[in-house]
Amino acid sequence: MEFKYECNDCGKEYPSDKIIYRCPVCSASNEDGKMQKGNLITKIDDKHLKSLLTKDSVTPGDFLPYKIPNEMTFPVGNTPLYSPLRLIIKTGFKNLKIKNDGANPSGSFKDRASQLVAAQALHFGEKTIALASTGNAGSAMACAGAAYGLDIVLFVPESAPKAKLLQSALYGAKVVPIKDNYDAAFSLSIEYTKKYGGINRNTAYNPMTVEGKKTISIELFNQMGRKAPDAVYVPVGDGVIYSGVFKGFYDLKEAGLIDKLPKIICAQSEKSNAISKAWKSGVLNTIPKATTRADSISVESPANGRMAVRYINESDAWATEVTDEAILAAQLELGSEAGIFAEPAAACAWAAFKKDAEEGKIDKNAEVVVLLTGIGFKDMASVEGAISVPESIEPTVEALGKVFG
Ligand SMILES: Cc1ncc(COP(=O)(O)O)c(C=O)c1O
Repeated sequence: MEFKYECNDCGKEYPSDKIIYRCPVCSASNEDGKMQKGNLITKIDDKHLKSLLTKDSVTPGDFLPYKIPNEMTFPVGNTPLYSPLRLIIKTGFKNLKIKNDGANPSGSFKDRASQLVAAQALHFGEKTIALASTGNAGSAMACAGAAYGLDIVLFVPESAPKAKLLQSALYGAKVVPIKDNYDAAFSLSIEYTKKYGGINRNTAYNPMTVEGKKTISIELFNQMGRKAPDAVYVPVGDGVIYSGVFKGFYDLKEAGLIDKLPKIICAQSEKSNAISKAWKSGVLNTIPKATTRADSISVESPANGRMAVRYINESDAWATEVTDEAILAAQLELGSEAGIFAEPAAACAWAAFKKDAEEGKIDKNAEVVVLLTGIGFKDMASVEGAISVPESIEPTVEALGKVFG
């Protein structure tokens, strides 16, 4: 499908016949302490988008720049949309829905972008994909690599969560721990691609990482009976998932399939609030330290911050910050009252919805979707302080009596 790139900052356009990661002009003037410039937006050919209006049905693939090879080899997406009855009764929001993207093959929404980057690699005849990640992006790319037979080289800070690293190694990725932080792993992964070739999938660096996530919105459009919800809650760290969800609804609107964008609410932890702070103040700076327990959204220098702030304004939405206590309470509530075990980063979206609902920021009749981005099984330690398995008992009727009275 025909498409081009457009710089988010200067608007300059670039052709898509070669792999390009950033606007060379804007990215050359990046400064420490400021959100980086030069990220590229993928612009799908307008004629193609308009032609979708006449079709009886659309699929996520109709909106993607590269054809997904053998979709059932790596069946990503089509994640379930819950109508969580107990939470609907409890909150009074009768049109509340939860989209559980933890149901993807590697357990997070990152499979969506990884699959598109795999398609990009196959399109250009590349066999290797390199990236830096502290968790879900790495395991998702490793998972896609295993399915499609691609070599994945994953640079990680040595402090990255063990479960996600083991998961990546299990899928067969070459895991390279670095004695430094994520930024160092990021730079080294770029050096790797310059020296050894292949494609780089760094989040926000490769424009396909935003583009691949827009399939969430196309699925929602279909799952809700060919319409957009009124509001979507999205947990935010680097701002890529936020921009991807925005882009999906933006393309649906360009195609004439919806009239207006939903409000896309940016949910952040108070302890990692760079994008929220930038949106509120209008000053696009990074923050000195992010300390949230929700490790997947703990980000000081959001790699897609400028685009996310722009899209919060364009979707006429806002940012909601929640405490880490509220995130962990939300995680327990989702588990015990909806049967969904979400990781803390994902539960941040539910915590933000609850906060806004309590403050009356959202109409009770609104069609609200809360996006849960990752499964909780990768981070069992996050719930260990709050729940525990009781001591074992003797297999006797007396012991039963002691437990149940
Ligand atoms: C489970 C989960 N939720 C949310 C996010 C936030 O996505 P982004 O960094 O694109 O804002 C991440 C990022 O790693 C994640 O792994």
